[in-house]
Amino acid sequence: MFIDLVRERKTRRVFRDTPLTEEQMSLILEAGDRAPSSRNLRPVRLVPIRDTALIRRLAECKDHGADALRTATFAVVVAADEDVCDVWIEDASIATIFMQMEAQDLGIGSCWIQTRLRCKGDVPAEDNVRSIAGLDDGLRVLSIVAFGNC
Ligand SMILES: Cc1cc2nc3c(=O)[nH]c(=O)nc-3n(C[C@H](O)[C@H](O)[C@H](O)COP(=O)(O)O)c2cc1C
Repeated sequence: MFIDLVRERKTRRVFRDTPLTEEQMSLILEAGDRAPSSRNLRPVRLVPIRDTALIRRLAECKDHGADALRTATFAVVVAADEDVCDVWIEDASIATIFMQMEAQDLGIGSCWIQTRLRCKGDVPAEDNVRSIAGLDDGLRVLSIVAFGNC
């Protein structure tokens, strides 16, 4: 039952180095893609990061709270085009939690890493993530989700 997933879910921040399978990563992305969006405008862009060297660089995107990216074997940057939808934050949040619940169902740990409104020194974490992940300047970055086996 879904309530069992809800009861068992908890944030995980330390992961084993066993990688996720292609099917697991694909299912996580599908769950995020299938999240509802306001007026079905679908402003969210999910950017999968499989390269662990890149994931480790993302761990440095903000001053605190990105430690889960130090051991994660998969990460998804949750970005959105704010010109497409004014409530992109809500849409991106729903996509984030849909991916986390799919991971829970697969027995995979996850952690929401907040980037919007966070900084590294004086530099917005969003700018750092756009630069590291090669995103368009116009895209906002709500979060990065860190995934891994526990
Ligand atoms: C909007 C939001 C932002 C969060 N940002 C971070 C973060 O930047 N780093 C982190 O390690 N955890 C982050 N978390 C995870 C929370 O710390 C965690 O959900 C909370 O402590 C409750 O623990 P639980 O998920 O195990 O129930 C965030 C969660 C939410 C919903």
